[in-house]
Amino acid sequence: MSDKKQEHDVEIDDVSGVETTGHEWDGLKELNNPLPRWWLWVFYVCILWSVWYFVVYPAWPVPGGATEGTAGYTQYKELQESQREIVARQAAYLDEFESASFDEIMNDPALYEFANAGGAAAFKDNCATCHGTGGAGAPGYPNLNDDDWLWGGTLSEIHQTLLHGVRAGNEDTHISQMPAFGKDGLLTTEQIEILVEYVLALQDGDASAVTEGHELFQQNCASCHGPDGKGSYEFGAPDLTDAIWLYGGTYEDVFYTIYNARAGVMPAWKARLDENTIRQLAVYVHQLGGGEE
Ligand code: HEC
Ligand code: HEC
Repeated sequence: MSDKKQEHDVEIDDVSGVETTGHEWDGLKELNNPLPRWWLWVFYVCILWSVWYFVVYPAWPVPGGATEGTAGYTQYKELQESQREIVARQAAYLDEFESASFDEIMNDPALYEFANAGGAAAFKDNCATCHGTGGAGAPGYPNLNDDDWLWGGTLSEIHQTLLHGVRAGNEDTHISQMPAFGKDGLLTTEQIEILVEYVLALQDGDASAVTEGHELFQQNCASCHGPDGKGSYEFGAPDLTDAIWLYGGTYEDVFYTIYNARAGVMPAWKARLDENTIRQLAVYVHQLGGGEE
């Protein structure tokens, strides 16, 4: 009966020219504007697709996460897989790197490249805070780009420095302590002033005029810095004749150094980084500049 009624009620709307459904409320008529067929099909396909997706992929939220999905897919697994690939590629080099001497590494372009890349990354993570991103240093933190070394610039010397650090409080660390000549009353302020003149003259290339300074230097300083002030790796004593300053080269800086001493500390890396990384770092630092044979 309702069918009949429907048929009976269908009419064409005057304003839009569209057929009505026959529903009418207080004079408002519902027009019969069905969705386009293609649109409906897309809609149905989307619904089917989403049901399929919920089943196959981990998409349905459940307490503590989501359903696993029949495909067993996770982004975490995808990441693991691509990492496994990288690790496998590295492992091929790492085996060779591990058993190679520094000499062999330096003469094998692929190993050398590998060491440098690893060293550069480890340097950014561990060393840049003190030595600067490019290894250029800062007052108190040596520049690693120049050919001026405190403790030596061969690969094995650098390796040693990295393993055990400087004044780092372990058995094998580099250690030497310049006395605080002023603070500890070993020299008078006047004597220190003469020595500052002497050190600054050494740097200018001619200290012969400062005879009194020369004597004081031989007595108090030469044991570490050498009779000519050129420094020594054995004591980590800087070369005082070059223009490179660890702590600054003004009159005040040098006075402060001699009066108070400095004693910079470089951490030991043996316990913090693995041997391969430390060796990669040694190669990296060596090639930054001034690496010695
Ligand atoms: C906490 C600050 C600090 C960090 C971090 C640090 N260093 Fe140093 N490093 C120093 C200081 C200070 C010295 C100088 C010590 C001295 O007076 O002899 C030094 C010295 C060195 C030397 C010796 C330079 C020479 O002329 O003989 C090398 C090489 C070096 N660092 C490499 C590294 C590498 C590589 C790393 C990262 C693994 C690193 N350092 C991390 C502070 C640091
Ligand atoms: C026991 C060894 C030792 C003796 C003795 C010694 N020094 Fe040093 N000196 C060092 C070391 C090691 C450093 C640098 C490292 C640090 O202290 O961080 C240094 C650093 C310096 C520096 C800073 C250089 C720079 O690049 O900033 C000056 C200047 C200096 N010494 C002058 C002297 C003078 C002058 C005397 C003698 C009165 C003297 N030293 C005696 C070991 C010594």
